[in-house]
Amino acid sequence: MTAETERLRDRVAAELTRTRGRTDALIAAVDDDDLVRQHSPLMSPLVWDFAHVANQEELWLVRDVGGREPVRRDIDELYDAFKHARRDRIALPLLDPAEARRYVAQVRDKALDVLDRVRLDGRPLVADGFAFGMIVQHEQQHDETMLATHQLRTGAAVLTAPAPPAATVRVTGEAFIPGGPFTMGTDTEPWALDNERPAHAVDVPAFHIDRAPVTNGQYAAFIAAGGYDDPRWWSAAGWDHRQSAGLTAPAHWERDGDGWAVTSFGRTAALVDDEPVVHVCFFEAEAYARWAGKRLPTEAEWEKAARFDPATGRSRRFPWGDEAPEPRHANLGQRHLRPAPVGAYPDGASPAGVHQLIGDVWEWTSSDFSGYPGFSAFPYREYSEVFFGPDYKVLRGGSFGTDGSAVRGTFRNWDYPIRRQIFSGFRCARDA
Ligand code: AVJ
Ligand code: FE
Repeated sequence: MTAETERLRDRVAAELTRTRGRTDALIAAVDDDDLVRQHSPLMSPLVWDFAHVANQEELWLVRDVGGREPVRRDIDELYDAFKHARRDRIALPLLDPAEARRYVAQVRDKALDVLDRVRLDGRPLVADGFAFGMIVQHEQQHDETMLATHQLRTGAAVLTAPAPPAATVRVTGEAFIPGGPFTMGTDTEPWALDNERPAHAVDVPAFHIDRAPVTNGQYAAFIAAGGYDDPRWWSAAGWDHRQSAGLTAPAHWERDGDGWAVTSFGRTAALVDDEPVVHVCFFEAEAYARWAGKRLPTEAEWEKAARFDPATGRSRRFPWGDEAPEPRHANLGQRHLRPAPVGAYPDGASPAGVHQLIGDVWEWTSSDFSGYPGFSAFPYREYSEVFFGPDYKVLRGGSFGTDGSAVRGTFRNWDYPIRRQIFSGFRCARDA
């Protein structure tokens, strides 16, 4: 066994443990009645996410990688996300909170034992610890999903976190990104998921992109200008949705005299003008952009703005370089439970001076979710491939609720254009 393999094993174990700490905190924040409750038809009961995380860990790490006997052979169907819609899960004979805690712990014990014994080379599924990285990211993704459930929960506030850092620089206007090819996607990022691969050259015409996400103050100006009442700014599908859903402002905003009050994890306070707007759907983002005389960036434009280094012609892992995110780079990891004001992360800026691409809010792009040229599903079609097509729009960059291990310059998220329970915002772009 080489020292390098041992280091990888230690790193994987530390990531699994750190991630479980986050999951446990989200679960422990509420009582058992709250764990089994349906807080929104858009979300699963929290106890479903909890046991589903362990079931995926059992399927991939214990049974597939480890070749071990099932921990529970009778519950796979209950925790298969494709078998039951989120709104129907409450009616299933789910593990109760005590049973779920026991199952989650049993699976983790076995997965750690597998990690101790398995070779981390050879089979593509385990090379560089990929299956373990996939399971860490999966749990982190569900931790963000559970955080979104917490935001939809009513009742007394249960989550607390320090305020995000204050702005230290003024960030306004746009950056110019010259035309030309860049490398999109990756072949070298060890824990990149299938839809981020393969690396391929994309020739992107010159464009301008906002140096910061659109803020609450800017978005409130769009509302004040009658933006929600003027079909000129909306696509046909967007206007239909705006009408049928009765949209008048981002989710969780309420009129408060002349201004706005916003409810965040059970606490209501005045809108903070210089924080990125969050909880807007794709159609709202598109309408704002048109009102502002701009448009949403394509996914390729977003990634070029985030990764292209004109000094070397290379694509970086992150806007600031190749180092893993540190707290000074980006608002990630549920350290703060809201976006940070624009100008709070000068150390995270890209070479072209584009700020806060990673963290704060997921950013809607104008692109449909599809496979890159040469895409091949790995290790299962249901992670990405079954979602390819015009129904889903791509979001980039992660939010304050996303862990640093589950986002990078190449990471691709997707959702329906009407969704806004996720921590979604946007920035604008325009042709050069
Ligand atoms: C990548 C966030 C769209 O939550 O649907 C979780 C992640 N896939 N379990 C989702 C995922 C399977 C996925 N997103
Ligand atoms: Fe899942």
